[in-house]
Amino acid sequence: MDAPIQQEVAAAHPKAAIVTTCILAALAGLMFGLDIGVISGATQFIQAEFKVRDHMIEWIVSSMMAGAAIGALGAGWMSASLGRKRSLIFAGIVFIAGSLFCAVAWSPAILIVARLVLGVAIGVATFTAPLYLAEVAPEKIRGAMISTYQLMITTGILLAFLSDTAFSASGNWRWMLGIIAAPGVLFLIGLFFLPDSPRWLLMRGRREDAQIVLAKLRGDEAVVKKEIAAIDEQLKTKQHGWSMFKENANFRRSVGLGVLLQAVQQFTGMNVVMYYAPRIFKDMGYDTHAQMWFTAAVGLTNVLATLIAFAFVDRLGRKPILYAGFTIMAVGLGVVGTMMGLGINSRGEQFFTVGMLLVFIVGFAMSAGPLIWTLCSEVQPLKGRDFGIAASTFTNWVTNMIVGATFLSLLSGIGNAQTFWLYAALNALFIFVTFFLVPETKGVTLEQIEHNLMSGKPLRKIGQ
Ligand code: BGC
Repeated sequence: MDAPIQQEVAAAHPKAAIVTTCILAALAGLMFGLDIGVISGATQFIQAEFKVRDHMIEWIVSSMMAGAAIGALGAGWMSASLGRKRSLIFAGIVFIAGSLFCAVAWSPAILIVARLVLGVAIGVATFTAPLYLAEVAPEKIRGAMISTYQLMITTGILLAFLSDTAFSASGNWRWMLGIIAAPGVLFLIGLFFLPDSPRWLLMRGRREDAQIVLAKLRGDEAVVKKEIAAIDEQLKTKQHGWSMFKENANFRRSVGLGVLLQAVQQFTGMNVVMYYAPRIFKDMGYDTHAQMWFTAAVGLTNVLATLIAFAFVDRLGRKPILYAGFTIMAVGLGVVGTMMGLGINSRGEQFFTVGMLLVFIVGFAMSAGPLIWTLCSEVQPLKGRDFGIAASTFTNWVTNMIVGATFLSLLSGIGNAQTFWLYAALNALFIFVTFFLVPETKGVTLEQIEHNLMSGKPLRKIGQ
């Protein structure tokens, strides 16, 4: 190996380099979560200031998801041509600009545009950050890194809920939406210290730069050589997503599965609670102060229950956890709907209903929250992985938007109880979807999954 690379190896502090990368993982996930969580506490004050109807609020909420869908579509191209690091820097800048733009929005229409801009940043970041992480993390901690990312999403949501709660005393929604630019600045500064992804550098033919980066990250010449050889080998498999999609029916099945799984994740109704929790608590009879604190409790429950998934996913497998999660969610929402139908009058009934909503949150956070993302990356064959993941991530945002844009209309159109029953029924249906279509991928190599898929095995059996 060349002298400069040997020097890098000698001077390397691989632990420090990996810690820095972990911090980035944390911050990118945090941005995602902040963006999801920040709007819930602000809507009632926005509605009061602009005197708009529920329908307009739905669009203010959902324009962010529309932006994210657009961002996720463009992110594949951007991360390939500009590189992962520069795409993330782009996302960081747009995130800061978008948050500040939201804070100064002078009309509902401008707020919609500002949230759309903010969404683009998140769309790019949600595609690029996990990709970057998977490319720089050492093999041993790759799984842990992706899990950390999911935990940070929920932490971001919790922080946004807490910050909204703090600002709710003054009712200042502009501060609520603007303050998230501050962690955005930290994210952006952090990005400048990161190396380019070695895989991307090799894709671009910058072999020596790739070796130097890996030397810094691994601090071991033999490991660097091995990884470079492995990446070279992988790069021989060119990405042929679109042509493969047109020609190969088996690949269409895995893309379809990814798309279906992300739609399932969103139609659990989780984001109804993420975006409209204070409104739901209002309909249960709570005042603004209590609404905000219960929303914070929702955020905390979401973080804590995500840890359950970490503990069990590699022991029990994906399917049992999904069965448990969908059952818990169906029961939780079914009971919330029933209580709303019967009328929530006493303190005891109020607490019970809040408790059942928290049960629903536990069901999601321990199962579909982290697992759907994991499954979506596991089921795609190597040649079509970028295409498949882009399709499912795009679906996540489009269905997320549909859920966000219809909730208040459902409440007024079919009624509170019926809306929650509808989501309860969908969760019950997802138990069957899991049974018939979801493979068990615990402890199976990606190569085995690909082999089974391509040889035409039914989807639920491609993990065997
Ligand atoms: C979902 C988001 C959701 C979050 C809640 C993620 O896995 O994709 O839509 O808001 O979990 O924790």
